[in-house]
Amino acid sequence: MGANTEIFMQITENFIKIDTPRTSLIFRRYDELLETIFYGAKVADAQNYDILSSHKHKYSHSCIDDIIAANTTFSCYGMGCDRKFSLSLKNFDGGYANNFLFRRAQAAEKPEIPGLPSSYGARETLMLVYYDETYDIELRQYYSVFDDTDVIAVSTCLENKSPHDAFIRSMASCQLDTDGYGYEIFSYTGTWARERYCSRTLLNVGVFEQGTVRGSSSHAVNPFIMLKRPARMGGYYAFNLVYSGNHKECVESTAMHSTRITIGMGDCCLELPLQAGKAFHSPEAVMLFGENRQNISLQMHRFVNRHIIRPQFLKERPVAVNIWEACRFDFDRSKILRFAGRAAEIGAELLVIDDGWFGNRNDEKTSLGDWTDNVSKTGGLETLAEEIRKKGLQFGIWMEPEMISPESDLMRSHPEYVLQNPRRRPILMRNQYVLDLTRKEVQDYIYGCIERLMELCSPDYIKWDYNRVITDAYHSSDLAGDAYSLAYMKALYALFEKILRKYPNLLIESCAAGGGRFDLGMLCYTPQIWTSDMTDAVERVHIQEGTLTGYPQSAMSAHIASEICEKTGRRIRLRDRFALALEGVFGIEYDITRCGAAELSELKEYVSFYKEHRGLLLYGDYFLAESDENGEAAVRTVVSADKEEAVAEIFKRKQIFNCEQNKYRLSGLNDDFVYKIQIYGMETQFTAQGKLLNSYGLELDKYFPKDRSGVYSNEINTLVLLLKRVQGQNSEGNYF
Ligand code: DGJ
Repeated sequence: MGANTEIFMQITENFIKIDTPRTSLIFRRYDELLETIFYGAKVADAQNYDILSSHKHKYSHSCIDDIIAANTTFSCYGMGCDRKFSLSLKNFDGGYANNFLFRRAQAAEKPEIPGLPSSYGARETLMLVYYDETYDIELRQYYSVFDDTDVIAVSTCLENKSPHDAFIRSMASCQLDTDGYGYEIFSYTGTWARERYCSRTLLNVGVFEQGTVRGSSSHAVNPFIMLKRPARMGGYYAFNLVYSGNHKECVESTAMHSTRITIGMGDCCLELPLQAGKAFHSPEAVMLFGENRQNISLQMHRFVNRHIIRPQFLKERPVAVNIWEACRFDFDRSKILRFAGRAAEIGAELLVIDDGWFGNRNDEKTSLGDWTDNVSKTGGLETLAEEIRKKGLQFGIWMEPEMISPESDLMRSHPEYVLQNPRRRPILMRNQYVLDLTRKEVQDYIYGCIERLMELCSPDYIKWDYNRVITDAYHSSDLAGDAYSLAYMKALYALFEKILRKYPNLLIESCAAGGGRFDLGMLCYTPQIWTSDMTDAVERVHIQEGTLTGYPQSAMSAHIASEICEKTGRRIRLRDRFALALEGVFGIEYDITRCGAAELSELKEYVSFYKEHRGLLLYGDYFLAESDENGEAAVRTVVSADKEEAVAEIFKRKQIFNCEQNKYRLSGLNDDFVYKIQIYGMETQFTAQGKLLNSYGLELDKYFPKDRSGVYSNEINTLVLLLKRVQGQNSEGNYF
């Protein structure tokens, strides 16, 4: 190994160190074993990092404890270690045990991952090479670092150099072995309309495992996980996967006080051929160390905005009016145009026709796959789109391209397009089947439908829905189980690639029965995702808080829905629904054709407020202050990079009796700046020093509006604050 003087990478005889702007990851070579000896806050370059770990593991060991204690960058079944392993092969001779020995480390180009999306714009990449001589298989791991975020992108590649075929039975993209136990695992749990709730699990000695076999990253779990390190070590780790199919995350802590985290694609019933002379490259995982939870979110947001979402979409997204919640399937041209008229009046920028414009679709039972204009409803999409554009709006439309209804022309002409095991009837869900996207003719069919729609009415925006899970995952004996999930995802990504190559500025918002496919893989193509079908602001506080922990505001669609939530029956005031929608890509999704003048003008003000501040709201640094002690209020502050301005939002979920001293602490402001604070919608203004706002908080209870009888009637009360730095002013005596 030669010396390397690059700033981000130090490679010496015994040590390899890679740095991000504020973290370091250090490996030590001992014999043919490479150990991870440190991952944490940045440390200075040195000749020797022995101080970080005194273990001297031998590769050929006689003691199982040596093997268990070794912190490695991957792990295989069958070499004496009974910890959870990241890699398992079935070799040509039927053996399952592989023994990959470390060969070399070197700077490399960040590889493209065949068929899978991955992050762009890395500064440097380290390649670690291992070899299993018995089976002639090379294992390469890639660690890429970036100039402007502490996230490290990691992927793993296996190349079979032998003349024999092997099978991959499990393969994580990334393994981090670290010290200690007692990690607190933060993960998302959820279900339809309750996606990405934060869940915490304290793991002492044992295993935490989550994953899905639903065929998509799913409502139930999400590949994003975060770990709070034990108090002695401090700080957090976070992980995610640039992949939208079945996935698996595992954390194991042992009695020897070491912890292994593996992140990767799902391996249920996996038998992925690794043919002689061929390579397989895993999806890309990302990992991150941050000193606190806040920092994890900031770094992840930055990474997604600068290295995942395509640059052409890093701009102000249009304010949408979507007709779904107001109309369902019941609309016609004149109704759509009434919506468009109102949308234009209140300053919205995009009118979206949701489900029901095609084939014979008047309910959920028919026509998926028949992407032909239902002229009796639309009056002709081509002219409808023109009329909408004449009103100064962009035109958007809904599709669910991956699906087929049993009652459809497509089913009649091509029943073989359905994903199924030919020996069994496939399972019907939401009255629909999944198309077998791994077939070339299905890919061509879907692409053709989209191309025709583009030619007909050139939508500026497509809402790409996906309303069921994958069952019957079978195409052939080679394409079953999670190997099918992988092939399906590769086909979907290839379809997106092809569409975006031809229509690079087409804004696709993905959706999966709400937020069932909210992940970094989708974000590589669709820069915003419909967060959840739950539009009740009280529930949304949790869903959005969870989502924003791992994903940026620019990825999260958030609409103002109707006053009485159809799902919960809760009545929520417009001002509070507005405050929640401000947190993401803002839109409106209720019947604005029925609004009176007062409501319309209120909406108009809200739209204009959002438009005025959306650069900051979508791309500013997002700070989530801890909720107050009782978890009754959440305070979120979005701050500009120069800290000159901010928008803060307070969501108070409960009025606590006889407790007048609630303080609402903001965060992320410059301690030394003095800010003018304006409560949106009120005359009230005051100035305060950043330090006070960050550390002490504001006593704002008196500003929460009461209803006419003088009571807080709502289950949620919100305040939106606008902060601007005041130049040359001293805060002394100026607080309130
Ligand atoms: C599920 C989505 O989440 C909704 O917003 C809507 O588009 C429906 N599908 C349409 O079927």
